[in-house]
Amino acid sequence: MPMVILDAQRVVACGTLVIERKFIHQCGMLAHIEDIVVSEDQRGTGLGRILIQQLKHLAFKHGCYKITLDCDIKNEPFYARGDFETKGLQMCIYYRDDPATTPTSPKYPHQL
Ligand SMILES: CC(C)(COP(=O)(O)OP(=O)(O)OC[C@H]1O[C@@H](n2cnc3c(N)ncnc32)[C@H](O)[C@@H]1OP(=O)(O)O)[C@@H](O)C(=O)NCCC(=O)NCCS
Repeated sequence: MPMVILDAQRVVACGTLVIERKFIHQCGMLAHIEDIVVSEDQRGTGLGRILIQQLKHLAFKHGCYKITLDCDIKNEPFYARGDFETKGLQMCIYYRDDPATTPTSPKYPHQL
């Protein structure tokens, strides 16, 4: 579920809520917050906080038992202000470059 904040027809902030049914938690619903971004010229004005509040509200209304998100270490204080706690460690494998930043040829496991 994408959520956007508009300023005179222009998207100035957006984020996404993904809801996952957890087989190992009696099919309870776990929410993931993804892709939070505020326009550079609007940062520090409270839009990020509003976005997070609304996504938290949406997750609660859908009956989710927990919300998780991955973030850069520099953004940890921002999410901590929104009552998120630091838990565990993120691990990942990249099979190809991030197309948003490096539009180069893809790498597949068989090419490694
Ligand atoms: C991180 C981001 C979403 C924050 O949005 P924002 O609209 O600037 O944040 P807000 O103005 O709502 O800030 C809310 C509070 O968090 C604080 N805060 C925001 N970013 C912070 C940071 N990186 N470190 C410490 N505090 C931060 C603000 O000072 C404010 O504090 P207050 O409650 O004491 O007033 C925005 O900087 C952004 O889009 N960054 C680039 C993309 C990005 O990194 N997205 C996150 C992906 S996980």
